[in-house]
Amino acid sequence: MTPPESLTMSFPSGDRPLDNYQFTFESYLTDSDRIEADVSYHFPNDVSENERVEEQYEILKMVMDGRLHLAPFSRDHPPRKVLDIATGTGNWAIEMGDLYPEAEIIGTDLSPIQPSFVPPNVRFFVEDSSDDWDYPSEFDFIHTRMTISCWSDMKTQIIQRAFDHLRPGGWLECQEAPATIDCDDGTMPDDYAWLRWSLDFQAVSRLANRQSEIGPYLKDWMREVGFVDVQEVTFKLPLNGWPKDPRLKHIGMLWQRNLLEGVSAFSLGMFHRFMGKSVEEIELSLVDVRKCLFDRSVHAYHRLYVVFGRKPETA
Ligand SMILES: C[S@@+](CC[C@H](N)C(=O)[O-])C[C@H]1O[C@@H](n2cnc3c(N)ncnc32)[C@H](O)[C@@H]1O
Repeated sequence: MTPPESLTMSFPSGDRPLDNYQFTFESYLTDSDRIEADVSYHFPNDVSENERVEEQYEILKMVMDGRLHLAPFSRDHPPRKVLDIATGTGNWAIEMGDLYPEAEIIGTDLSPIQPSFVPPNVRFFVEDSSDDWDYPSEFDFIHTRMTISCWSDMKTQIIQRAFDHLRPGGWLECQEAPATIDCDDGTMPDDYAWLRWSLDFQAVSRLANRQSEIGPYLKDWMREVGFVDVQEVTFKLPLNGWPKDPRLKHIGMLWQRNLLEGVSAFSLGMFHRFMGKSVEEIELSLVDVRKCLFDRSVHAYHRLYVVFGRKPETA
């Protein structure tokens, strides 16, 4: 694509002198990416974001050593009926369909962005899962993954409903990474740009009435709703190739690329709608955020929470 003519902008707030700063905003927003008002999901579902989500899917699978879930199902003990809430492009549901050919897999999402060529035991439905679930039968496995800032109250909207729609003995598993980043060795300065961005993202999610930090609370929410045998396993997603360990370094490099590709999509709708920022202001504020992802002296990471629990046989 030929980028349109570069623009020369000055930043109105005055805290970042940007006179003569050459920046091409238009190359980041195609017609399909335009910010729409009054929507429930504040991130795009366009081709480039869907490709990023599919790469994200592969990275998380790699982090989990190729496993699709940690709940105790196997080929010898397969689930019979599986529900994937907010399935996105449906990769998890499709791979579950291949792994467990005898199971029925249902994926639901606000957007019809799933492929039509899928295993015969996989079906997709368009649905807003924050509304009442109108399913005729009970599931023995319900799953969510990367639904950050999708729900106003994950405990009542998703976890309680999952409990109600599981058969006794069925499992819920949530695989969720919060916006917050961690660092174990003091190499992350307080003004690290991605840290600042993640705090802004948490603030804007609160304004949007969406929960961004669900991962750390899943265990408690599941127990409060009545799940038993709740287990939490966490995995590190390094922000770039800083780790010495070759496997984690590789994951970090892939994660860095994914974040660089996604940060506009994470920011534009939310910061525009709920903080009144223009597209230009948002993109300019992301320059440092992107730049800091190349600094390998900062040993920061996201934490992926995989939390699973069982509905008691007696419930
Ligand atoms: C980041 S994607 C994750 C997709 C998938 N779970 C994965 O891991 O690849 C989040 C998805 O949540 C869906 N979503 C957001 N709010 C929803 C809602 N209220 N009901 C159903 N799906 C929703 C979006 O359409 C989007 O496809």
